[in-house]
Order: sequence, then C-alpha cells, then structure tokens
Amino acid sequence: MELLRIGVSRNFRIYLNHSRQMHLLKDKAFVNNEWVSARSNAVFPVLNPADDSVITNVPDMDASDAKNAIQVAADTFKTWQDVTAKERSIILRRWYDLCEQNKDSLAEIITAESGKPLSEAAGEVTYGSSFLSWFSECARHLNGEVIPSPWPNKQIILTRQPLGVVSIITPWNFPFAMITRKVGALMAAGCTCVIKPSEDTPLTALAAVELAEKAGVPKGVINVVTCSRKNAPAVGSVLCEDNHVKCISFTGSTVVGKILYQQAAKGIKRVSLELGGNAPFIVFPSADIQNAVEQAMLAKFRNNGQACVGANRFFIHEDVYDKFIALFKEHISKGCVLGRGNQKGVSCGPLINNEQAKKVSGLVDDAVKKGARKIMGGEFDTTLGNKFYKSTILTDVTPEMNIFREEIFGPVAQIFKIKSEEEVVKLANDTNGGLAAYVFTKDLGQAFRMSRKLEFGMVAINDGILSTAEAAFGGIKESGIGREGSLHGAQEYTDIKYTLMSALDK
Ligand code: SIN
Repeated sequence: MELLRIGVSRNFRIYLNHSRQMHLLKDKAFVNNEWVSARSNAVFPVLNPADDSVITNVPDMDASDAKNAIQVAADTFKTWQDVTAKERSIILRRWYDLCEQNKDSLAEIITAESGKPLSEAAGEVTYGSSFLSWFSECARHLNGEVIPSPWPNKQIILTRQPLGVVSIITPWNFPFAMITRKVGALMAAGCTCVIKPSEDTPLTALAAVELAEKAGVPKGVINVVTCSRKNAPAVGSVLCEDNHVKCISFTGSTVVGKILYQQAAKGIKRVSLELGGNAPFIVFPSADIQNAVEQAMLAKFRNNGQACVGANRFFIHEDVYDKFIALFKEHISKGCVLGRGNQKGVSCGPLINNEQAKKVSGLVDDAVKKGARKIMGGEFDTTLGNKFYKSTILTDVTPEMNIFREEIFGPVAQIFKIKSEEEVVKLANDTNGGLAAYVFTKDLGQAFRMSRKLEFGMVAINDGILSTAEAAFGGIKESGIGREGSLHGAQEYTDIKYTLMSALDK
C-alpha cells in the first residue's frame, strides 16, 4: 500500500497508511519525562531507508544536552535506588504489557526507519518486550550471599547494589530490542540511564519510552538524547567520561566499541560491549540437510543479514556440499522477496544506509575480483531503489578475500567446501570475532567437541537462532565483554558489596 505523507507542522511530518497512524511517533527527545528540544534548537532528519524520504525531524543534541540528561539521571538515582525490587518489577511488567498492546504501532515505526519488513518488526517487538517481562521477574531475584566465615565471631555478607547511572548506546538493526535488553536489566538492578539511540533509528527509542512513561517509570529513570552523526562523537565522549556515569553499555561495531572502551578506561568505568561477529555456519555429513538449510535462511537472512549474530561464513562438508547449495538456492529463490518493508509478502528490505550499501557491494566485488564465483545475486535491484541488494551466494571464497574477515552485515552467503572437523575448527576460529557459531551434526560427540573447540561466546547446535531473554547473550575476543539477557544480564548492572559483621561476641 502506498504511504501518504502529510505535513502536520513545520518540522513534523506524519506518515499515514490509510486509516492507520503511527500514534507513537515523537519529534522531541525525552529528559526527566519531558519531551524536549536540543538547547541549540537544532534538528536532524530521520530517513526512511527505502526511499530516503524524511519521516520527521528530531533534536540534534550536543554535549551540553548530554551532560544535562546525565545530571537528571544522577539526581534520580538517589531515590530510584531505594524503590523496592517488587515495585520495579511491577513497573517493568506494565511496560511489557503496553509494548505488547502497542505492537503494531511500534512495528510500523521500526519498519519506517529501519526498513525491515513489518512481520519482522512485529517479531522484534515480541522479542524486545520479552526482555521487559524477563527482567521484571529477575528484579526480585538479585540475591546476595551469606558466606561461612573463617572467624567464630564474624559474619560475611555479600549484597548486590545498583551501579548508578548507565550510558546506553544502541544500534539501528534492532532499534527496540537492544534498548529493552539493556534498560530492562538496569532497571531491575535499580540503575538509571541515558540512552543515545542510533541516528538512523531514534524514533523507535522515543516510542518505547513514551510507553515506559505510561507504564509509570518515574521521572528521570530513563532519558533519551537524540543526535546526528555529526554530534555523535561529542555526545558519546560525554556519555563515556562524565563522572556521574558508572557504566557504558554499547551494542554496535567493534571499531566504535574500541573507542568507547578507551574513553571508559579513563574513569575505570564498567563496560558492557556487544560488538560485531563473524559467525561460522558449519554443516557436517550427518546433519539433517533440510533442517540445516531452513536454519541457514534464518541465520543469514534475519533482518536481511544485518545482525551481529548473522551467519557470515558457511563451511559445508564436501559430502553434502552440492546438496546443500542446491537446496539453499531453492529456498532463497522462493523465500527472499526484496522490497519495501511495509509491502505485503516482502521478506527482505533495503540496507539501512548508503554507507552500508557501499560496504556490502564492495566486499562482494572484491571477492569476485579475487576469484569468488557468484551463484546468485551479487548486485542491487535498481528498480526498487539504491539500497536493495539481492540475496547472494558466493562460492570459491578464500581467507585472503576481505569478505572472509569482515562482518558483511548484508544478505551475502559465502560458502567454503571443507573436508574435516580439524580443518573447519581452524578456519572458523581464524577471526577476531567471537560472538555466535552454528553447527549442524547428528553426531553427539562431534556436537560437544565443536561447542568446546569453537572460540565463540555462543554455539547453536542444529539451530539458526539462539537469541532469547532467558539465555546469556554475548561474545568473546573482539566481539565484546559481558552478557545480556538471563540473570547475568541484570547482575552486570550491580556491584557486590561485602559487609563484614564483626564482634558478634561482644
Ligand atoms: C544483533 O545481532 O545485533 C542482536 C541480535 C539478537 O539479539 O538476536
């Protein structure tokens, strides 16, 4: 259906899709539960990646706005840390309920600014909301410990205390779930926060906090500072270096993660970093090939390949290589429908921006120039626009090609033929990334061996999706530090306080 754009005010445009309206669309930042402009009054446009049309303008905040928001979060922490775990749990549960009730509106905004198909956007809301319900439960289970003391007249007590103000910097690929995964956890722990959403997708963040306010999240617990790419470095430095900030939680590229880690180091601040991956997808001869291909579709084409956990390098055993490729090709031809995210039947949207489009096509072109073979795709569908890259299979790739080492973040499957377990472990581990790995085998011993030998923080055996609120998401090597989801995710935002109770005999 064709979207109609109508002007509502000078800087505010709302898209109407017939009678449906994105009623959660906001054009202001959110500080101390107030909708605010930048102090400079500057704004920047948020674009629909399908056609680069302007959805609306939002405040282009700078370092002084960020400092102000941090001060608000720090003042609020003084009272919020004493709110009972039970009360925080109830608020989080109400936020979850509202997100579920407003799934369609949230999904429309996600699709408009990220480009992903509406069904996937709704799936992201379900996934993202699940963190709020999960952490609502965790809030009441952040228990301490009483440890047997080596002295008869003393008692050792460990309690968990909230860290304080947390800076949250989130990406554009899962603009809702990456916020709830962090904010749900830190609120459960009793922290407050300032969020800087990606400049590509600030509208989802604003819609999410509109619902948080309605759920009863008190003033100043969650603050959102929006800014353009131009102001991001200055805002980012304040978020990492301000004295009030006790932790920086970032999901995004390894390049930016390294910069933030250095800035955080100046104040010895806690970091939680979920960075890029370079996931291997390994298929052994004993695997159920039909299942492996179905899971490959999810692992590769979820969000059109724009996921840190997305399968990057396919290692297929020579005994099942031809069968796997034939079936994969068939599934892609039927299952990958490229188009605008708001159109029915579309399963793959545009890449997020021109930079990303250039990166994906550049990696494919480099590989082809160095001898890789294009089995399908490998070009833009220019009838749709300038960011619609066709689902692609490359074979005859070698470790010398850039595509082997770099995270593609696009709909490109590069396939390697392997001969043995030993060979594939070496190849799969030959990367600085260590986030997710996927292995397909029915040999139980092999499954356990692979889980142990693969240098990745998460290993899925016979599955292409491993994300869930109940599990501890996170990477090793240059893929990051810390875990999100599970009880560990909430513990990340606490410090252990050791209290020694002495002189019990006096
Ligand atoms: C990511 O890949 O960026 C996160 C995806 C997830 O949580 O599954």
